[in-house]
Amino acid sequence: MKSKKAAFAVLTVVLGMIGLGSVIADSRMKREVTFSKDVAPIFFSKCADCHRPNDIAPMSLLSYKDARPWARSIKEKVLSREMPPWSPDPRYGEFSNDCRLPQSDIDTITAWVDQGAKEGNPKDLPAAPQSLTGGWQIGKPDVTLQIPEEWTVKPGDPDNYINFFVPTNFTEDTWVQAAEIQPGNRKVVHHVIAFVVTPQAMAKRKEAEAQGRRTGASSVMYIDGTLRRTKMDAPVNDDGCNTDGASRTRRGGGGEEAEGALLAGYAPGKGIDVLPAGTAKKVPAGSTIMFQVHYSAFAGSLEKPEKDRTRMGLVLAKEPPDKMLITSAVANTLFKIPAGAGSHEVTACMTVPIDLEVVTYMPHMHLRGKDMKYEAIYPDGRRETLLWVPKFSFSWQTMYYLKKPLSVPKGTKIIVTAHFDNSTKNKYNPDPGKEVRWGDPTYDEMMIGWFDIVVPNPAKMLKPAPAGKAASESK
Ligand code: HEC
Repeated sequence: MKSKKAAFAVLTVVLGMIGLGSVIADSRMKREVTFSKDVAPIFFSKCADCHRPNDIAPMSLLSYKDARPWARSIKEKVLSREMPPWSPDPRYGEFSNDCRLPQSDIDTITAWVDQGAKEGNPKDLPAAPQSLTGGWQIGKPDVTLQIPEEWTVKPGDPDNYINFFVPTNFTEDTWVQAAEIQPGNRKVVHHVIAFVVTPQAMAKRKEAEAQGRRTGASSVMYIDGTLRRTKMDAPVNDDGCNTDGASRTRRGGGGEEAEGALLAGYAPGKGIDVLPAGTAKKVPAGSTIMFQVHYSAFAGSLEKPEKDRTRMGLVLAKEPPDKMLITSAVANTLFKIPAGAGSHEVTACMTVPIDLEVVTYMPHMHLRGKDMKYEAIYPDGRRETLLWVPKFSFSWQTMYYLKKPLSVPKGTKIIVTAHFDNSTKNKYNPDPGKEVRWGDPTYDEMMIGWFDIVVPNPAKMLKPAPAGKAASESK
């Protein structure tokens, strides 16, 4: 009798605990997850850059009404980590703009969908993303430069690169700390690159134009409309690392010779250009900015003519920085991809001429780009993978910002290896039946490993005045 009672008491306690446990579990499950309160903050910060009206993604995720029909697909894509797109193999390099969702965000989105994707109270919605309101993500710019005229793209227009020249009117050398390019019309602007053209380079350009020569054409390149392309019968060199001529290095944002210096770029999902603290890019006095805008009618998706007027905001450094940031690239312009090739390898190399720090990488290929790897062989023979993008997608022209700058000593060899899929298996392939060479249009190819480097600013490296002759005395 006694023991029965005791057993009953124990049972009651145990049952009570189970009951309590299930109440806790229940309340956790039942904590209502709503769009307005829990999910919108994730979508606004992690998805809105592409999932907004008239952008590259198929739907906007900014409002409940727009997002709700996609709930099932959203759960699937965040669980499989296909969205947001993040391409590098996580074994190599740590990046500050790594946009992979933390598990807690994935859990929140999953719970939201499982609970029937409810809206909640619209009053809980966070403020709309700044980039959407036309505001500047870099903060208030010190200088704004805009292309001088509206450009119109009509339905059915072919891909086009248009160069717009905008004088800076800078009377002295100017140091740019942050830059933001705002496409005037995301329906037709595929990407934009802002190049610095020095007064000397501009004079050369004008002289060539006056003489009726087209600038940029050479024995291997020709200009087709405004598009630069490698001639079909130009020498072929797929392995730019073992022979001369194929690898080309390109510098930007630097010295007086800086024709073609790259100042800033815009592409969907790329983000703005904010340089690491204490560094800046130089724009020499009197320079002109060349906006190279790639207009695309996006394969027939355009219904009526669209106008664009792209602009760029710059935040300037208050004084010349100790370090200067230069956009460099290793590229191969002499490859030839055979028709139908499933995995055609192309390499490019560069030997680093001085000690420097690498702060970003940005692989660039077109629709046949399959993968790209950056490696370093250090002077002591050690070989290291720096970045490995195993499934490159033309849709994400992402710039990868290193969490910590990588020190690269003089004499290090940087190797960039790319593969191209020109077969029918590549669903983005414009024409598997064609041999493909370098060219601006997306139906040609490119092979560029862009990277930003930081070097000491020569303007700050002047020797201090010898002892006994202080700077103040000599004034
Ligand atoms: C860098 C741009 C970008 C970002 C950031 C991004 N997406 Fe996408 N998303 C796209 C594009 C482009 C597509 C269409 C892909 C295709 O057609 O292959 C897409 C497709 C999708 C689809 C599939 C739609 C369908 O057709 O079924 C879902 C779902 C999705 N995204 C959800 C998200 C969510 C959720 C986030 C944020 C957590 C996100 N995406 C972040 C660009 C982006």
